[in-house]
Amino acid sequence: MRLLDAVVNARMRWTAATNLRDLRPRVDDRRIPVIVTERHVVASDQDVVSVRLAAPGGGPLPAWRPGAHLDLELPSGLLRQYSLCGDPRDTRGYRIAVRRIPGGAGSAEVHDDLGVGRALAVRGPRNAFPFAAPGHGSPAARVRFVAGGIGITPILPMMRLADALGIEWTAIYTGRARATLPFLTEVEGFGPRARVRTDDRRGLPSPAELLDGVGPDTAVYCCGPAPMVAGIAAAVRGISGVELHSERFSAPPVVDGMPFEIQLSRGGEVIGVPADRSALEMLLRRRPDQPYSCRQGFCRTCKVRVLDGEPEHRDSVLTPAERAAGDLLVCVSRCAGGRLVLDL
Ligand code: FES
Repeated sequence: MRLLDAVVNARMRWTAATNLRDLRPRVDDRRIPVIVTERHVVASDQDVVSVRLAAPGGGPLPAWRPGAHLDLELPSGLLRQYSLCGDPRDTRGYRIAVRRIPGGAGSAEVHDDLGVGRALAVRGPRNAFPFAAPGHGSPAARVRFVAGGIGITPILPMMRLADALGIEWTAIYTGRARATLPFLTEVEGFGPRARVRTDDRRGLPSPAELLDGVGPDTAVYCCGPAPMVAGIAAAVRGISGVELHSERFSAPPVVDGMPFEIQLSRGGEVIGVPADRSALEMLLRRRPDQPYSCRQGFCRTCKVRVLDGEPEHRDSVLTPAERAAGDLLVCVSRCAGGRLVLDL
């Protein structure tokens, strides 16, 4: 498992580094006021809603490509990231979909408070999971999409684009049961090339099943739960000539971590961080209002200032100048030894 985690983490760092241009704040990375214009329940278990956001005057919004996400500034002040799952040709609306997570403040706010007419703001779109179609930027000859549950959100626009471009593609959409799967009608509208399989009928899928038929010259685009993505990453290594592109919606496991302490200001409370936990996770137990969003070291929401101690930076976005100034992303970065005193 440690080897598997190392492979996945290395892959994620490589992907983040190669997409740095997309991840860094840009001139057009501005705050955009929007209102909710539509809202629909899109899974029959009622736990996933899709929301359409539009400019208050109905004007055009910044363009995006499949794989992009938005930063939502929710009315409470929480910042959360959601993949765009609508049609990029719809220049006057963004569609996102959100599964209600037990105990998840962001998803609860979307479900309970974002009714039609509600105003909020977004930033972006930004793309950390870009789709390079065969013949249009990728040397691959065909594509396999693998989506787990709400992981269908970035994959769905990719499937539409692949279909429109007439490239060879197949998809497997998996989840616990059909009732939990959002956008089933849209996915099944693609016909037999988009296969739906559920755990309640066939048990948990193995990576081999999800990669069934995948051979050389195939690009695999995968989004879903961390174990599924990690399993596919490991399995793909055994197939030559396969590109893997993946995104997941949860914090990566800590790899090669050492225990350390964080101190909340000079002379303040001291919190222990075990080897397999992040500083953010331990911090949230004492300070539930600590801001965070991606938990993967690329959105900067959790940035804090280090007053003392030697950081071990594991993010992919802070510049050397920011690091020299003492900035630290507590969701992924750690201490090189001993204790970090944070300006909290
Ligand atoms: S929560 Fe996004 S960088 Fe830490």
